[in-house]
Amino acid sequence: MTAYLITNVSVLGAAPTDLLIRDGVVAETGVGLTAAGAVVVDGTGLVALPGLVDLHTHLREPGREDAETVETGSRAAALGGYTAVCAMANTSPVADTAGVVEQVWRLGREAGLVDVQPIGAVTVGLAGERLAELGAMADSAARVRIFSDDGHCVADPRLMRRALEYVKAFDGVVAQHAEEPRLTEGAQMHEGEISTRLGLTGWPAVAEEAIIARDVLLAEHVGSRLHICHVSTAGSVGVLRQAKARGVRVTAEVTPHHLLLTDEKAVTYDPVYKVNPPLRTAADVAALRTALAEGVVDIVATDHAPHAVEDKECEWAYARPGMLGLETALSITLDVLGPRWDLIAERMSRTPARIAGLTEHGHDPAPGAPANLTLVDPAAQRVIEPTELASRSSNTPYARMTLPGRIVATFLRGEATVLDGKAVK
Ligand code: DOR
Ligand code: ZN
Repeated sequence: MTAYLITNVSVLGAAPTDLLIRDGVVAETGVGLTAAGAVVVDGTGLVALPGLVDLHTHLREPGREDAETVETGSRAAALGGYTAVCAMANTSPVADTAGVVEQVWRLGREAGLVDVQPIGAVTVGLAGERLAELGAMADSAARVRIFSDDGHCVADPRLMRRALEYVKAFDGVVAQHAEEPRLTEGAQMHEGEISTRLGLTGWPAVAEEAIIARDVLLAEHVGSRLHICHVSTAGSVGVLRQAKARGVRVTAEVTPHHLLLTDEKAVTYDPVYKVNPPLRTAADVAALRTALAEGVVDIVATDHAPHAVEDKECEWAYARPGMLGLETALSITLDVLGPRWDLIAERMSRTPARIAGLTEHGHDPAPGAPANLTLVDPAAQRVIEPTELASRSSNTPYARMTLPGRIVATFLRGEATVLDGKAVK
């Protein structure tokens, strides 16, 4: 196994030090380390963070390997500074059995670029009618702990209650895509002034807020863990704030795009901006930023949603919702939060690792910690070129934008997955 000596690097913004990585762990830290045979990585000007953990990634395999595979998505993740991603269940076939989650887990191991932790579906086929075999997925080699019908809401309150009860047995969590379907039929974008002007059917904020309000009450009643996917409205932040103040076991994520972009983008009619939940207003963006800084929203999760060209480069109404996220998330978060490295580590690594139960991840680079870490150059600027991304798809909303920060290296259990800003394999 290769040893790495990272020299003169700032751990989470602290004074520069050296880091020796050997046998899968951070073996030593300190100024002026030497290590015979180690590969030296010059960390001057770089910041070391615990490897990022994404709680919400669409890898598209099995079923839509033309849009992404476990391998291409893993590579995109490593290049984005991630060492673990949780793969959403809305594949084809759906990840609703032990067989499918084990397949995804095995593909992740084979790719070997990040830890791929499958999420299991809550209901069979994401159809919202019958509970999937949650226990069998939990007991499988993939050890599933997060269950989600993401892409769809678990709209039936009785099923949601049963799912919350079921996962309690193994301290699992139900991750809800909060969207009351009766309020979003035919919806194309955020319901507001701009949807009215464009004549597009609106997706009202209350469709999200009503489900979150219901589900925090259910989680409170059952005493179980609930996670809210891609929170997008100021009203949702209010509901979460109250629930947390009461001690409900609820966590929530926000995506980079909901922290940066608004429904104004829809006036371009460019489907790259079509996403579910939709881009909201500037007031929502401001509330989400405050909530993230305060911890009312616990984490940043990408909702990386690759789509093939024919599903995106078409009329707005026919385009699939979703945008890429893995290779730009750290840059957007850095832009939004500023160089508050401890906060970034909390929101993008430690807390998501804790929610997902990924015990090897989310540890600051310190002696004895598993060597899952990433090195960022905060001074670098990069122009996003969609065709240069490692993802098999190119539906990034940040095309040709200049973003701050660049991932220089990523290490998974002590092995480099990215060096000099390039994937190692
Ligand atoms: O925009 C989205 N895309 N939202 C979702 O909930 C699903 C996702 C996808 O799978 O493309
Ligand atoms: Zn979703």
